[in-house]
Order: sequence, then C-alpha cells, then structure tokens
Amino acid sequence: MDQKLQNLREQFREDLKSVASPADLTGLRDKYLGRKSGLIAAEKKRIGSLSSDERAEFGRVVNEISAEVETEITRLNEKFASEAESVSLERETVDITLPGTRPRRGHLHPITLVRQRIEDIFVSMGYSVSDGPEIETSFYNFDALNIPPGHPARDSADTFYVSEDLALRSQTSTVQIHTMQQQKPPLRVIAPGRVFRRDTPDPTHNPMFFQLEGLNVDRNITLADLKGTLQKFVEMMFGANIRTRFRPSYFPFTEPSAEVDFSCYGCDGQGCRLCKGSGWIELGGSGMVHPNVLEKVGIDPEEFSGFAFGLGIDRMAGLMYEIDDIRLLFENDIRFLEQFE
Ligand code: DAH
Repeated sequence: MDQKLQNLREQFREDLKSVASPADLTGLRDKYLGRKSGLIAAEKKRIGSLSSDERAEFGRVVNEISAEVETEITRLNEKFASEAESVSLERETVDITLPGTRPRRGHLHPITLVRQRIEDIFVSMGYSVSDGPEIETSFYNFDALNIPPGHPARDSADTFYVSEDLALRSQTSTVQIHTMQQQKPPLRVIAPGRVFRRDTPDPTHNPMFFQLEGLNVDRNITLADLKGTLQKFVEMMFGANIRTRFRPSYFPFTEPSAEVDFSCYGCDGQGCRLCKGSGWIELGGSGMVHPNVLEKVGIDPEEFSGFAFGLGIDRMAGLMYEIDDIRLLFENDIRFLEQFE
C-alpha cells in the first residue's frame, strides 16, 4: 500500500489518542477533513500523479481512511455531548430533602403591641374601638371641647395649623365630640390615635405621638365609675396588686378633672429607677365630661353624665419595654425594632 497513506492512517490513530476535549476534536477535524488544507484533501490531490493501475487501490484506501476519520470524529462528538449533558444534569439537580431558606417573619411594632393590649382590656369591659380624623376644624379641636378663644392650647406655637381653621389634632379628645354626635348614650368608646404638638424632640417628647381616649356616657355615671374603671385597667395591664391615685387637675373639657397615677410595678411603690424614686407612674388625664361639652353635642347634662380619660400609648410602651428615648419608637430603625419579637 502507498506508504504515505499508511503514515496518514497511523498519524491519525496517534492523534486520536490525545483528543481530550471538544476543542481538541475540532482541531482534529480541521486537520484531517478541512476542505482546503486538510490532510485527506491534500492526499486526494496526489491521485492525478498516479498511474491508472494505482488509482483504484489508492482511491479505495483514501476513502477507507476518510470513513474511519469521520466515524471516529462522530463517535467522540457523541461522547463529549453526553458527558456535557450528565455534567449539567448533575449541576441542575435539586435536592428536595435540603432545608429551605426561611423567609424572615416580620412582627408588630411595640406601640401596636401595647395599643392592642390596652384595646383588649377595654373591649373586655364593654367598650368599642373608634377613631377620628387627624386634621380637625377649630370646632372639634377647641370650641366643642370647651377651650375658649385665647386659650394657650390654641396657640400656633403649640399646634400645627394647616389653615386658619384647620389644625392637626393635639389630643384624641376630639374623637369624644365625633362619637357623641354620631351615637346617643349610653356609649362606651375608646379611640387610639396619633396626635401632633409643636414640641422639640427630646428623649421624652416627639412632635407626633399616640394617645388613647376613653369616653363613657350614660345615666348616673359618677367619679366612682371613673376610678373603678381605671383601677381595673391598671390591674389588668400591670398586675393585680397595682393601686391608682387621683390628683386634682384642670382640663377645659372635664369638671372635676384629675391626673391619674398608678403604683410602680417595678418596686410596688417603694421607689426605683422606673418610677424615678417616687413609687408612682403617671397614667394620664381624666375627669367628668364638662356639661358644656355635653350641651355642644346635644346631650342633656341634666339627664346624662360621663367620664373621659386620655392615656399616652407610647409612654406606656416606653415604660413596659424600658426604652429611655421615645424617639426610637418613630425612627423605624430595624436594628431597634427587631428586638421586640
Ligand atoms: N387630652 C388630654 C391631654 O392630651 C388628656 C385628657 C385629660 C383626656 C382629661 C381626657 C380627659 O379625656 O378627660 O393632655
């Protein structure tokens, strides 16, 4: 047989052994089967220089080698393709027995937690939960609450005015008026909500904070009902041994009026860091609804009487969670908030 063809066949078998990747295979294909510069094409060109006797044999062997090259290349091609497929199958395998990544669960804001606790207590005493607008006319902010013109509470240095007649409410007591306009006594309502005051923020003040208003109007409601209700509330909120005390005070919309304190749950009234040594903690303002207020909403003060109170929700949250700067409650810093889960 033609020696050169013999060499070509051996060279091919040798080269075949070192093919290790699809890139090597492409190189091999170009080297042997390339149309212009492939080694087989080069051999075929020699046919013209052979005698007619030699040609038939030469052609047979060239075709044989060419068929071998193609078969081997096809075989390797399939081998690489199936290897690549099993690698990618391996990579894409999902192990359904592995633990999943749990989504992080959110939780309620500390003010919401405290508000809900307070609401639950009053609801269990037969109160319903109500709310009112955060922007109010002077009628709801002041007139109906028996706050006369010229009263310091109307001062624009303390109140956020939106226009001459509209202001952000500075207390939830405005909801008393809406409630009494909408419902006739007997009524028992609490109203939690935001209030706004032009205070400079510091550890105990924020220009926006949360109050909870309470209102109970019926026949024969007395100061004893107010005292009993708030006493029951502090027992349910802070513990069965907690006492209340009422200090005379003044609010335009109540008469008489009282500030309410409760004995400190941290030291049982002995004096500690929580109550700043006094043994008592302020709960809020309260009193018997002023007859002028009842008249303003068309309720006869001769027939009906009522009590009202206003509690600071954030102040209570600050106490219960021992937060010494209430501004933290409004900054929405996740590092702070995530501690209350
Ligand atoms: N609104 C008062 C305040 O913001 C608190 C208050 C006092 C509410 C007496 C009342 C009340 O309902 O009767 O300081």
